[in-house]
Amino acid sequence: MKLLLGTLMVLMVSGEDMETVEAFLGRDICLPCTCLDRNLSNEFKWQVQKQNESQLIYKQINKLASKYGESYEGRVQTFLDQNISDCSILLKNVTAEDQGTYKCIFYQGDQYNNPAMNLRVYSHRSVLQYAPLILGKGDKVFRCDVKGGDSETMIQWRQAGQVVESSPLIEISTTRTQHAPTGLFNLKSELKTKLSWTPEPECEAIPHPAVTAEPYKSDIVRTHTYTLLPLLFVVVVGSVLILHYRWKNTEVSARTSEG
Ligand SMILES: *[C@@H]1O[C@H](CO)[C@@H](O)[C@H](O)[C@H]1NC(C)=O
Ligand SMILES: *[C@@H]1O[C@H](CO)[C@@H](O)[C@H](O)[C@H]1NC(C)=O
Ligand SMILES: *[C@@H]1O[C@H](CO)[C@@H](O)[C@H](O)[C@H]1NC(C)=O
Ligand SMILES: *[C@@H]1O[C@H](CO)[C@@H](O)[C@H](O)[C@H]1NC(C)=O
Repeated sequence: MKLLLGTLMVLMVSGEDMETVEAFLGRDICLPCTCLDRNLSNEFKWQVQKQNESQLIYKQINKLASKYGESYEGRVQTFLDQNISDCSILLKNVTAEDQGTYKCIFYQGDQYNNPAMNLRVYSHRSVLQYAPLILGKGDKVFRCDVKGGDSETMIQWRQAGQVVESSPLIEISTTRTQHAPTGLFNLKSELKTKLSWTPEPECEAIPHPAVTAEPYKSDIVRTHTYTLLPLLFVVVVGSVLILHYRWKNTEVSARTSEG
């Protein structure tokens, strides 16, 4: 009975106390942990639970020796050398795979503590779809830019709810470039077709498959910008008219001064 109660309490505590830390894809995130009166002769470590597997992130073996988990060396910074009661870690350059439950494990006297938190990774992807370009021979080109994806983000085109794939009548080309300061990716996609579709196809950004179960928070801005061609036409015709008018005027004033 005591064991059962203990289990229930742990469940309740972990259910209620589990805080969620949100991290922006490609940035650094601090995972907080206060460890006042920590028993220095006992272990202190951080580990992460991802689906069914648990990984070590950092472990302090004793006052002088510590160890980083595989792939965390250089990605994790600790603050213990500045403040012995600050067991927080800084996780650098967060990726979609970093989503999981993080535990800070330490002892106060003989008492085991393992405050846990969920890490959710999100990104702000912006999706910009341009008004179609109309080329000769009935070809139309739809263009779309996505900013702020990760290496797995894809652009997908849909028309009337159906996914559009390349085919003899539809040419889709997508390029991906990395934005060096953030490590995030920008994508450009063009869909060229002779088909006259109503409604017009729309593009969307498909996030990393690792987070489809727990989707990114994302701000998607779909802006249809209109090509400047009509405006350009007005400007050119307007300038020609003004020039013509001025030219006529100078001709008139020339004649007047002649006469
Ligand atoms: C986790 O589960 C997957 C499939 O459910 C399995 O392939 C994998 O081996 C498991 N990993 C561990 C560490 O148990
Ligand atoms: C050390 O960290 C603890 C826990 O974060 C905090 O309460 C305390 O004020 C810090 N001490 C100093 C000297 O910064
Ligand atoms: C710290 O942990 C060790 C090992 O578990 C234990 O022997 C010792 O009593 C603890 N210290 C205190 C002050 O409780
Ligand atoms: C962040 O991680 C990504 C993916 O692992 C990598 O491509 C990028 O260069 C890293 N950025 C920095 C600033 O380390």
